[in-house]
Amino acid sequence: MSESRVLIVFFSRTGTTHMLASTLASMLSADVEEICDYTERRGASGYLRCVMDSWRKRPAEIVPAGLDPSQYDLVVVGTPIWAGAVSSPVRAYLLQNRTKFRHIGFFCSLGGLGAEAAFDEMRALAGKAPVAQCKVRAAQVQGVAAASLERLLEPFVGELKRHLAHYQTLEWSC
Ligand SMILES: Cc1cc2nc3c(=O)[nH]c(=O)nc-3n(C[C@H](O)[C@H](O)[C@H](O)COP(=O)(O)O)c2cc1C
Repeated sequence: MSESRVLIVFFSRTGTTHMLASTLASMLSADVEEICDYTERRGASGYLRCVMDSWRKRPAEIVPAGLDPSQYDLVVVGTPIWAGAVSSPVRAYLLQNRTKFRHIGFFCSLGGLGAEAAFDEMRALAGKAPVAQCKVRAAQVQGVAAASLERLLEPFVGELKRHLAHYQTLEWSC
């Protein structure tokens, strides 16, 4: 486990959220867990399955997580937006681990609409308010240099780091 005690957890169907997760992990020196599910989500029928899962608020069947979120001070969870909602694999992860989060943050990638409703859902699923949240449009990620992506994420990372520093101060004073 990294010394910073931050875990980035994400699901990504087409790589956009993955790119955000990797950039965040490098900026925060965090460990990374990719959520994988057993459902075929490629192509037109896969797309439809994603929409149906979101409409029905159905958690996906996911591969058991390799890393224990209770071992981290901060878990930052990322999702693509599907039909104005959180993706079903992330829905499943949050439900399965809701008792294990000490502190949580959220990020999402999207075409343009639905982030606020998805963040509200994520908060309810996790049973915890996030210390910070960040939405990024796919167009701001795709084909963009790593340095530009870091600049884009800097305010979010700054907020997360301020919270981390606060947790360390609390630990030292105990
Ligand atoms: C099934 C499906 C539904 C989507 N619904 C929305 C939506 O409601 N609002 C939105 O802004 N983008 C929507 N998108 C676009 C994705 O959120 C966006 O492309 C995202 O960056 C994909 O992330 P990924 O590459 O990590 O899978 C949808 C994409 C899919 C596949």
